[in-house]
Amino acid sequence: MPVRILVTDRVNPVGIALLEETPGFEVDVEPTLPPDVLRQRVGEYDAIIGRSATSITADLLQAGGRLRCIGRAGVGVDNVDMEEATRLGVAVINAPAGNTVAVAELFFGAVIGLLRNLGRADRSMREGRWDRSALTGTELKGKTLGIVGLGRIGSEVARRAHAFGMTLTAFDPYASDDRFQRNRAERAPTLEALMAGADVVTVHTPLNKETRGMIGAAQLSALRDGSVLVNMARGGIIDEEALLAELAKERLRGAVLDVYSTEPLEGEHPFRDRPDVVLTPHLGASTMESQRNVAVDVCAGVRDFLLHDDLSRS
Ligand code: MLT
Repeated sequence: MPVRILVTDRVNPVGIALLEETPGFEVDVEPTLPPDVLRQRVGEYDAIIGRSATSITADLLQAGGRLRCIGRAGVGVDNVDMEEATRLGVAVINAPAGNTVAVAELFFGAVIGLLRNLGRADRSMREGRWDRSALTGTELKGKTLGIVGLGRIGSEVARRAHAFGMTLTAFDPYASDDRFQRNRAERAPTLEALMAGADVVTVHTPLNKETRGMIGAAQLSALRDGSVLVNMARGGIIDEEALLAELAKERLRGAVLDVYSTEPLEGEHPFRDRPDVVLTPHLGASTMESQRNVAVDVCAGVRDFLLHDDLSRS
């Protein structure tokens, strides 16, 4: 019987080819199946590969009678019910390394976009104006960057921040002193101390029980006047209501948001009305290079798992 794999989201074809060329594998590519259709079909497959658009719920996992493996073409596994996967013995394979550069580069693009008023400048030019004096910005050089989460992406941001002449502080109770030293970052003793001591604060942690709502009203009120808050990690880490309330005080320079507690961001969300917020639609990992990297990593991981799992059963 062939090993059957369903690719449910837009995963780069270079990765999918690794599966298609494996003898004994059958691959169906159907981005993105509605949840009820996916639930009906999941029982036919040994593995599902997707991105964040597909929720791998407990219910879906239970319906997957022969499911052995979930592949996540990206780093975050917050869309997978990990407890249920573990209980059912379904392996979850992600691709944690392939998109770090893409996120780090977007971080600098978006922050400079805010600090140099690029969105406003572009709009005013198209509206026939020449608002040169109203659009004076600020520089990164000499400013302090506060990084929440000094993992792969946080460290990639740190390396580039030094090139801009920034001073670094980070909050990460799980990162070793060696990692802080390598990134030339001072260890902030608390999240609040980090918020109070930085001009730009950026979050690079996964979304989990510990980090959900980690940045709420108390932490936001610790931010320096004129500072910028960035979330390119996951919606839900920053309390959005509290952020809107803090922005309404007009004491921060603004915020950069790539992720939201509900995605896609729909309708007339109050963030859309704020000129001091740069909004992007979860573009952190959306580069050609990154999508190819994560697709190859996850498809190779799923292929190897299925091959070795088969061997161990025979
Ligand atoms: C990731 O978790 O890798 C990124 O947020 C991109 C994605 O969700 O696909």
